[in-house]
Amino acid sequence: MYTSPSRLSEEARSNIAQALNARLADGLDLHGQIKVAHWNIKGPQFAALHPLFETFAVSLANFNDSIAERAVTLGARAYGTARHVASRSRLPEYPQDTTRDLEHVRLLAERIELYLEGVRDARSVAEKNADTDSVDLLTGIVTEFEKHAWFLRASLE
Ligand SMILES: [Fe+2]
Repeated sequence: MYTSPSRLSEEARSNIAQALNARLADGLDLHGQIKVAHWNIKGPQFAALHPLFETFAVSLANFNDSIAERAVTLGARAYGTARHVASRSRLPEYPQDTTRDLEHVRLLAERIELYLEGVRDARSVAEKNADTDSVDLLTGIVTEFEKHAWFLRASLE
């Protein structure tokens, strides 16, 4: 661990950074999967969903960056190469031959919900270690991605 401006103990910083790196792996994987859906989607809902998926990708890219930078601020490193992500992500691989609009919606809804479970777990780690600032960051992600999951689930009803 590097020195950090944080007042948390080294053990606390290390635990939180580990949880953040796990979420970074999921988030980078999810970002690639959302782009695959954005590129390959076809069907009557294309005009609405193609740009919607892009807004998800842009918001996730920003959150991934914030998570990585929080881990380094806490004195850890941020891990994010494609090979590292492939070995660590909890998300299942995306079926890249999918084209139908609503099938992409279902696949992304499932993956966003899985991503959210991990983010909530990481938030619990930050809460246990009294890291209000990481809790804040993670709560922002939960709020935003629960909204995205709602958009997708509403499209399926
Ligand atoms: Fe695009």
